[in-house]
Amino acid sequence: MPEEVVEDFATSRPADGESDPETPVEEKSGRRKNGLFGEASRELTENMRKGWAVPPARPPALTAQAAHTACRRAALSARFPNERLVVPAGHRKRRSNDTNFRFRAATEYVHLTGDQTEGGVLVLEPLPGGGHEHILYLTPPSDRESGEFWLDSAAGELWTGPRMSLAENEARLGITCRDRRTLREHVVRDSVPVRAVHGHDTLIDASLAERTVPAYNEELIVHLSELRLLKDEFEVGELQKAVNSTVRGFEDVVRALGRAQVTSERYVEGTFSLRARVEGNDVGYHPICASGPNACTLHWTRNDGAVRAGDLLLLDAGVETHSLYTADLTRTLPVAGAFGEMQRRVYDAVFDAQEAGIAAIRPGARYRDVHDAAQRVLAQRLVAWGILEGPVERVLACDLQRRWTLHGTGHMLGMDVHDCAAARTEAYVDATLRPGMCLTVEPGLYFQSGDLTVPKAYRGIGVRIEDDILVTADGHRNMSSALPRRADHVEAWMAELRGPLGAGNPR
Ligand code: GLY
Ligand code: MN
Ligand code: MN
Repeated sequence: MPEEVVEDFATSRPADGESDPETPVEEKSGRRKNGLFGEASRELTENMRKGWAVPPARPPALTAQAAHTACRRAALSARFPNERLVVPAGHRKRRSNDTNFRFRAATEYVHLTGDQTEGGVLVLEPLPGGGHEHILYLTPPSDRESGEFWLDSAAGELWTGPRMSLAENEARLGITCRDRRTLREHVVRDSVPVRAVHGHDTLIDASLAERTVPAYNEELIVHLSELRLLKDEFEVGELQKAVNSTVRGFEDVVRALGRAQVTSERYVEGTFSLRARVEGNDVGYHPICASGPNACTLHWTRNDGAVRAGDLLLLDAGVETHSLYTADLTRTLPVAGAFGEMQRRVYDAVFDAQEAGIAAIRPGARYRDVHDAAQRVLAQRLVAWGILEGPVERVLACDLQRRWTLHGTGHMLGMDVHDCAAARTEAYVDATLRPGMCLTVEPGLYFQSGDLTVPKAYRGIGVRIEDDILVTADGHRNMSSALPRRADHVEAWMAELRGPLGAGNPR
């Protein structure tokens, strides 16, 4: 009956299109077209307002991650004086109908705040005397009176879980917090120049589309990317945790190779992903679980191929920590536990190339030196095998080895697997290495099944070895040295994990 319908619980919640504009209106209103629940009676509405315990006030301490963010915001403030800067965490992305992908906060936002709250927005507001006020816009706990608590399936705490108060968030993050529902009026309120990170938050995009200049926004992105080039002590610790979990995930996979052989590469993916979800936030990127010739497809993430005893399995995977730092490791493993002759030949070439690349890492060395050292070894090997005609200098000058090496030898690593990707060439690719940088070294050789320019024995073999290396004051540290790399070490490690009964055999 019309008079029993709750018409308006939205007065104290974000307007439609504000907190999650992609959610269908019928879901936002709590009225599901085909669900069990229809509209709520006044009696039920009254009943749902009352009888809820007030959570105890428990002011949290400043988190270790947040404690490292003030200096980053200070650097940002100094780079863009007298401008309003807006950096959002973003929203869930729709997967299909009313299901979404799991939310993962934007890297720039987490790096500057230590927070991962969906819909959070950091605003640096310029102060008349110089510098900025730092303000975090967050959605406070659900209002019980309005019914938002239980009627709003997109944001109501009954559906999505408890939220901290703004005061608790201030204590946890060390930043002034305000209600997100007042965000829009702040960011559009005057003619102060604004730069924003677009593409994450539809409210920011819609409100500031006319107010920001794409080239200026890009400068902000570039600066935020370069701000992540050097990792501090906390970040190195988190990266090491990510690497350690990833090593355990690789061990899990070796133990599960028997099941993978009677199922598919999906068993490898599932096994690794279990470790990532239990010990960390998630995988840092889609794992590449590529058996046999699939290893020659660089972005093989279908992971639906067969795992056969005589093949190599290329596993490229990384655990992302709860703080959102990811590892990025690759091992190419003989499924049966021992490399065949040609497999080992290719593997050893890639290993030697990786050794040369890692050896080039020290403060003051050029970033490009790592790639050049690894490519030289691979080019030499391709000439020695008669696949390329020498001399090696000509091969390298024309980059002829790239038909089989395919990709660069590494990249910066951090909260994004390809971290700092927006950094200027002179700050990254053309720069020299500095202590605190963390990069991967990941040469590979890939002989496609249909490559008629190589002897048949090479075809279908793909090998990559990837480690995560920290530049230190006196050289480098291989953060992933716990994972064997040398071919005979890999074989011994696999044998030990499988045990005397051959736990890795099909059964
Ligand atoms: N896993 C992506 C990469 O190695 O760059
Ligand atoms: Mn990788
Ligand atoms: Mn990589």
